[in-house]
Amino acid sequence: MEKNREPEMLDRLSVETLKEELGELCQKFDLQVKKETGSTNDDLKQLAEAGETKDILLLCEKQTKGKGRRGRSFYSPEETGLYMSFLLHPSVEARQAAMLTTLAATAIAKAVENVTHKEAKIKWVNDIYVNQKKVCGILTECSLSSKDYTLEYAIVGIGVNIYDPKEGFPEEIANKAGSVMGNSAKTENLKNKLAAGIVKYFMEYYETFPKADYIDEYKNRSFVIGKKVRILPTGVEEPEDINACEQVFVLDIDEECGLLIEHENGEREIMNNGEISIRDFF
Ligand code: BTN
Repeated sequence: MEKNREPEMLDRLSVETLKEELGELCQKFDLQVKKETGSTNDDLKQLAEAGETKDILLLCEKQTKGKGRRGRSFYSPEETGLYMSFLLHPSVEARQAAMLTTLAATAIAKAVENVTHKEAKIKWVNDIYVNQKKVCGILTECSLSSKDYTLEYAIVGIGVNIYDPKEGFPEEIANKAGSVMGNSAKTENLKNKLAAGIVKYFMEYYETFPKADYIDEYKNRSFVIGKKVRILPTGVEEPEDINACEQVFVLDIDEECGLLIEHENGEREIMNNGEISIRDFF
């Protein structure tokens, strides 16, 4: 017969606890929590396209069609992750929308450290790493006005792996993905506390957006400055031969989160988009 075992602690989202943690901040948006959905980004996009003008924060426990950047999927199993999206309507120019992603990355890294006491670093442009593994990704989607190229709405989607999934990460991402707490036992309310922490820091920076009040914090948390990295071809995350990808040196990150790089021939350039690999330089 099986021995009596301690029941496994649950760590679930709860509207009440989130409201308690967030206090007055809840007045700034409509708070919604779902047990399961396809994609929190898609749900909010549907609302925005139907004319929703309120700002909304939607969180869920599991996504069946979680989306990542560049058309990739985002593994979003039940119980071990936090999946949340903001629908926002800031009055800014279209080109400033990209800053929402770096703003979010800074807020997430700060919240992870504050709530879990784990060191969280940012890999340009917006992946959060703990213990040299990617634990969080951000997908920002925008709609632009065709009249004046201002932003109609932005959706900032955040996926955090809090615990290692019981069955491990899928093979395709197993060498890169990790979780904030690894295989530690679940802590009650960690998910709510982390979500609230992210929202608090996000809202603090969003208050003065598009002023980039988060930029020093972003730079301090970046672990690519002063390192050699490889530039990945567009749309490729895992190139067949990483050694065939150009190697460059990262000198700095500018005020708009552009990456100041130096090519091997000494030429300097600011990269404003694209993807880099740090895989063979850890
Ligand atoms: C990436 O690393 O490629 C970005 C991943 C973004 C995942 C989050 S989870 C919540 C929101 N809903 C989605 O479908 N995607 C984002």
